[in-house]
Amino acid sequence: MRRLLAVFLVLLCVLLGAPAGVGAAAHEVTYDRYSLKVDGERLVLQSAEFHYFRLPSPELWRDVLEKFRAAGFNAVSIYFSWAYHSPKPGVYDFTGVRDVDRLLRTARQAGLYVIARPGPYINAESTGGGLPAWVKTVPGRARSSAPGYQAAYREWLHRINPIIARHQVTDGGPVILYNAENEYQVNTDAAYMQDIQDQARAAGIDVPITTNDCCDAGSWSSTWATGPGAVQIPGVDDYPQSFECASPEVWGPWGEGLTERLRDDIPVFAAEYQAGAIDLGNAGYDRCRELTGPAYMKYFYKNNLVTTGATMFSYYMGYGGTNWGWLAQPNDVYTSYDYGAAITEARQLTPKYDEFKRQSYFLEAVAPLAKTDPLTSPAVPDNPALTTTARANPDTGTQFVLVKHADRAATGTDDATLDWAAPDGRHRVPVRVKGRDAHVLVAGYDLGAQRLVLSTSEIMTHALIGGRDVAVLYGTAGSPGATILRYGSRPVVKVLEGDVRASYTGGDLRLDYTHDGLARVLVTGGGRRPLLLLLGTDETAAGFWRAETGSGPVLVRGTELVRSASASGDTLRLAADTAGGPVEAFAGPAVRRLRIGTEDVRVARTPSGSLLGATRVPEPVRLPALTGWRSRAEAPEAAPGFDDSRWTVADHTTTVSPHPPKTLPVLYADDYGYHYGNVWYRGHFTAAGSETRIDLNAVTGLRGNYLVWLNGRYLGSAAGGVEADSGDASTPPNPDPGPGHFDIPAGVLKPGADNVISVLVANMGHNDDWIADDLRFKQPRGLVAATVGGTPISWRIQGSPGTDPLRGPLNNGGLYGERTGWHLPTYPDKSWKAASSELPPGVTWLRTAFRLDLPKGQDAPVGLRFGGDPSPAYRVQIFLNGWNVGQYGGDIGPQRDFVLPAGLLDEHGTNTIALAVTAEQAVAGPGPISLFTYGNVRQGR
Ligand code: GAL
Repeated sequence: MRRLLAVFLVLLCVLLGAPAGVGAAAHEVTYDRYSLKVDGERLVLQSAEFHYFRLPSPELWRDVLEKFRAAGFNAVSIYFSWAYHSPKPGVYDFTGVRDVDRLLRTARQAGLYVIARPGPYINAESTGGGLPAWVKTVPGRARSSAPGYQAAYREWLHRINPIIARHQVTDGGPVILYNAENEYQVNTDAAYMQDIQDQARAAGIDVPITTNDCCDAGSWSSTWATGPGAVQIPGVDDYPQSFECASPEVWGPWGEGLTERLRDDIPVFAAEYQAGAIDLGNAGYDRCRELTGPAYMKYFYKNNLVTTGATMFSYYMGYGGTNWGWLAQPNDVYTSYDYGAAITEARQLTPKYDEFKRQSYFLEAVAPLAKTDPLTSPAVPDNPALTTTARANPDTGTQFVLVKHADRAATGTDDATLDWAAPDGRHRVPVRVKGRDAHVLVAGYDLGAQRLVLSTSEIMTHALIGGRDVAVLYGTAGSPGATILRYGSRPVVKVLEGDVRASYTGGDLRLDYTHDGLARVLVTGGGRRPLLLLLGTDETAAGFWRAETGSGPVLVRGTELVRSASASGDTLRLAADTAGGPVEAFAGPAVRRLRIGTEDVRVARTPSGSLLGATRVPEPVRLPALTGWRSRAEAPEAAPGFDDSRWTVADHTTTVSPHPPKTLPVLYADDYGYHYGNVWYRGHFTAAGSETRIDLNAVTGLRGNYLVWLNGRYLGSAAGGVEADSGDASTPPNPDPGPGHFDIPAGVLKPGADNVISVLVANMGHNDDWIADDLRFKQPRGLVAATVGGTPISWRIQGSPGTDPLRGPLNNGGLYGERTGWHLPTYPDKSWKAASSELPPGVTWLRTAFRLDLPKGQDAPVGLRFGGDPSPAYRVQIFLNGWNVGQYGGDIGPQRDFVLPAGLLDEHGTNTIALAVTAEQAVAGPGPISLFTYGNVRQGR
């Protein structure tokens, strides 16, 4: 009975289009030197990274994960951010936007395996590298087995591990691998690494444990291969293009990015392979997308596949998302974590997505790729600019020949004739590979019921549809192609479309053509089942979507996306995004009708046997202008009479921070439980009368600042201290930005009486702990020194008064408006005055509301755009319906457009935008501010 049930469930996943192992039945995960196996079936793991904490809208998780699956990824790699779930020791939240149970269920429904990466340390340019800021106050080095840290990280693992454990493949869930720690490479502690794994096993994690080793596998994966801390499948991270997006033409500054084989008993695992970049030079993410664009992907990914023989890939990132709230690590990123990924922050598909689709479909369709050995190249080009490397499957003999062209020489050509000793015979065939490109060509392959002798077109996918094999092959537009197929007798060749020449000799049918548009060739007879060969270019091939139905796969082109398909009776039903124009579906002959979402599409049958119709263009989207801004200045904390008696007294004389304070008391915000966003200080002193100057020193993280008042008089601002993440252990971070000197203007000091210094310090987020040295991570935030002559000062501090139960610990800091709810949609702002464009120094809030009614059934992501030039003199915290969706201005980054994600944005109702503007001087405020859309499709579900 159980067996029957298991068979039924496996069938169900096949019907739903999931890879065989992603389903409700229990499966076994094993591996050998070639690949992972699920229930003994080999698998090329094709994964991309996704951070749920960078998309605070669970409904959109589904959209992104379905887009992953539709690109042919069979897995998603997910960091779990400890900081995102834990505002303080012992307190954890896994509800709402933090509901990772839902996330893992969504991944399974989307048909994806999951590589679970719960850290405890994750890096990811996220605040503290994923460590909650409260860990900064825990004694003992983070990322070691020091007792204080050990108690802390076990607390996290004891909560996250059981959630991951109940979603494992071995229990019918999607989790196929568990990754311990992150690039744990210097200052290592084997006992810590071992304990993470012991904790996982104790929680019932029984899938293989992996690691992602940094920097060409330099560290423990070799030395610890068998000792304490060693994992089952160590993997390697590679970022060959580096992160300088301003120079996208630079090619592989960090090497070829070939993922090393670490051990003979495990597959080669590209644990993080570069698929985008952080924008270190503030060039904008479109440049990062260029730096890591299709040319790079073709050359580097295919090189890694064939030269290395890797069968486990995880691309960082597939979708980057948003550093909303105070999620960003301050040194390397700004609000957008778009990453130049294949899917943009606003969930739009890019040419990189197309390239992933071409490659991922290939990996999924051509099974012999999961087990290959290196082979002396059987294909020799007669042009030295082109080189070949090869592998073959030892069981089937199928050859995979990589033809690459490193760079275009000034005088060289891209063309060659390949002299190819293929398993079924030797042939001379033309090939063209332009500079910075690579093609994987296949020979000796059972393509469905066909025998592919070889092709100089690349295989995208093939499927048995309606009793015939349908294959999509492609090549660079304008390049020559040759495909040779073997038959028992002369087949009938019918060229349905395009210019394809056929010849038949000695059992070989040879087709010669130029890649141009989409050629269609129907081959029947010859002792095999019929073959419909679709010969496309990169562009036309990318237009195809493949989906599985209960009665087999279908291919669709002309839609913006196909999420899933089902066939019943004579109707093919697609869940697909469309934007108008022709749509074509290749399904069995029984299918005569096409339905996309809830709409019937009128179709006619084509000579290729497919159905052809047209989709409707989406309704245009009308967005309101943002008008009616109201404003209110805040910062009552600056006024001498402000009641701070309920603020926290800052009187500590010791700290666990490795950075000693320059003056006492210790004023580090973390030490008083204020970890994120802005923090206020009020220092009282009885003036001797001789004080002339206030000397302050604050550490804020990159691009932070602080503003200072004395007795209500604004004295000015200064840049906060920083630490750039140099990654160099020999250069300790410098917590000392140099003091800010604030002269006391005449008449402001009150000798013999209570004087009040008010300081507003921005905390831009917490450094990561990349080299596990604690110095970087435990760098304080807030004031590190404060003197006013020699006069003693007594201090109080106030940050965020608590955690927003819906929006979580990273949403708010301690601005007066935040403490009073001015960012919330429900706040009554009627009494606020109409906003003027001039802002005084200090904090001013601007609010407006707008109504939306976007066309139903369409996906038109909305953004907020700041026109004009931002001033370095102000910084803006942007709240959408209370959610802190970004930081603008203040030289924080080049970003002017901010995504307002559906879910946080009410697409059919009233929305509130609140801007908290901190100005260092009187300045014209930001603007003009408008709404815009990133795209617009009909979403047929
Ligand atoms: C890797 C790290 C990731 C991320 C990436 C750069 O070294 O493991 O978490 O930081 O670099 O974006």
